[in-house]
Amino acid sequence: MTRSDVPLYPWPLGMLLGRIEHEWRTRGQVFGLAARRFFRDDPAVDLGWELDGAKVATPVGPAAGPHTQLAQNIVLGWLAGGRSFELKTVQVLDDLEIPRPCIDMETVGYNVEWSQELSLPQSLREYVKAWLLLAVLRRWEPLREVLGEPGDHVFELSVGYDLPGIQSPVMDAFIHGLGHAGVLIDELRRDIGGDFAPLRDVPVPERIVRTATLSTFHGCPPDQIEGIVRHLMTAHGLDVTVKFNPTLLGLETVDGIFHDRLGYADVALDPEAFAADLQFDRALEMIERLREFAADNGRRLGIKLTNTLVVRNARGVMPGESMYLSGRPLHVLAVTLLERLHRALPGVLQVADQTDAPVPVAFSAGVDKDNLAEVVALGLRPVTICSDLLRPGGYGRMAQGLRKLQRRMREQGLADLSGLTAAAHADARAAGRADAVAAYADTMASPEAVARYGAGGLKPPRTVDRVLEMFDCTACTNCVTVCPNNAFFTVPTPPDQGLEAREQYLVLAELCNDCGNCTTFCPEDGEPQKVKPRLYTRPEAWLMRDKDGYLVESGEEGVTVSGADETAARLVRLLSGADLPFVLQSPGDR
Ligand SMILES: Cc1cc2nc3c(=O)[nH]c(=O)nc-3n(C[C@H](O)[C@H](O)[C@H](O)COP(=O)(O)O)c2cc1C
Repeated sequence: MTRSDVPLYPWPLGMLLGRIEHEWRTRGQVFGLAARRFFRDDPAVDLGWELDGAKVATPVGPAAGPHTQLAQNIVLGWLAGGRSFELKTVQVLDDLEIPRPCIDMETVGYNVEWSQELSLPQSLREYVKAWLLLAVLRRWEPLREVLGEPGDHVFELSVGYDLPGIQSPVMDAFIHGLGHAGVLIDELRRDIGGDFAPLRDVPVPERIVRTATLSTFHGCPPDQIEGIVRHLMTAHGLDVTVKFNPTLLGLETVDGIFHDRLGYADVALDPEAFAADLQFDRALEMIERLREFAADNGRRLGIKLTNTLVVRNARGVMPGESMYLSGRPLHVLAVTLLERLHRALPGVLQVADQTDAPVPVAFSAGVDKDNLAEVVALGLRPVTICSDLLRPGGYGRMAQGLRKLQRRMREQGLADLSGLTAAAHADARAAGRADAVAAYADTMASPEAVARYGAGGLKPPRTVDRVLEMFDCTACTNCVTVCPNNAFFTVPTPPDQGLEAREQYLVLAELCNDCGNCTTFCPEDGEPQKVKPRLYTRPEAWLMRDKDGYLVESGEEGVTVSGADETAARLVRLLSGADLPFVLQSPGDR
């Protein structure tokens, strides 16, 4: 693939708002997520905390990855209760060709993604668009009736992978742009119309990020980490979180956990990746030096555990020799690493009862609806999720985890997160453990944890013996919920067309980057993103992709559908006649 055929054609703000308005009015949902699956604030339980002086209404959000690249993905994470968004990593090389498929969640969770798939200017626009969109939706009365008071949220920049790249003029302009977004925000405001017109002048802070996470992945040279952190703090005035890799535990420990304890016999570790990555002792020295540097410069250093683990690719699903493991086994690794770092750096990490310690710890490793409350109770902030959101239920799974957290706090009579952390610490002490981190790390070796996080607990996705076709299917909605880009939508099947399923599935091809996740979870045999009708709204995108689908336009005669296969085009037109206007219209157009 070359840059003339881009993987994604993000939708303009006006189209996104048009879709929200239409979908809300006709179906009580936003980007396919039904209102009953949104996260609702509970005034009896305060889930808020502070990040570098900014308030954040919940301790949870999507981790850097496919859920934080496009504006509508960020909206979906927000509706599900995410209030801290680790934006998709950006780097100077913004025209990488990512192999396809790039996500394989059939078992634990693997991917071969790198950084953003948009150009740097497009990424900037997308993040600013999402920032403005959330400011508008936060004040949109119909949503407030469902969400309650959503509270404040933060965006965290994520950058990689070496110092020269991060210091390059294009990256410099990108980072500067996120701190001074006023002009772009005002330009985008012009796209706010229809139902949203009264919110066109909503106040929007022009500083979008105060914090950067440094991804020390993809060969980020260990000896450049300190230089990058210092640069981000001094040249851009950002607080910085260093996102470590699980290789920090060392090959022997990881091997023992993976193979001897958890039974992942088929996961082949890569000794070279361990040798080339940052080593534990060096990381300790680095944390000490950087926190002093941060303090001297009026900034804050944080750490994040962890990024994915590089392993050998022996599954034959995605191309290439290596792939990056995430999900449940990573949870055991990251908790083990947290406990070791905490023990090696007494009084340094802001976890358990050490609420005044200087270095906050963010977490992202195998978090799901069932362990979210445990992790938040350790004092980790924010807790971010990626793999679990790529499973059936998608973004709604984050809201489920938050509701469980709310319920636990209500049942224990805990009013806020500091109460939750104190209670977990007191329980750990009563059980004879040093603190809540030590107690939770101990549980990782228990038979229950081995059953939950080990190879024995894996269940393959459901399958049915049927070949997937363009129209009609099992209609399970998996393709809709597992797509991080919200590229699928459903329409009711019209009568008298010889079709059987209650709903038909269509692909918004401009938002589909062919990651392959829908194929993994489709129970039928076929690739939904290729088999189902692919719709385009922009002629240039349709032509660029050799008309591999249907171009949907609205003109004087109403909605027209052009495509190579006339019979299918007629069906698409019939199916989507009532619903397609939301694809085509900005609220300002009417
Ligand atoms: C498909 C995919 C893409 C990812 N892309 C990035 C990225 O661009 N930058 C980054 O720092 N981490 C990236 N990650 C790692 C996640 O942010 C997260 O740290 C990791 O997956 C562990 O969390 P999980 O077990 O909840 O997935 C990605 C993970 C996945 C699965």
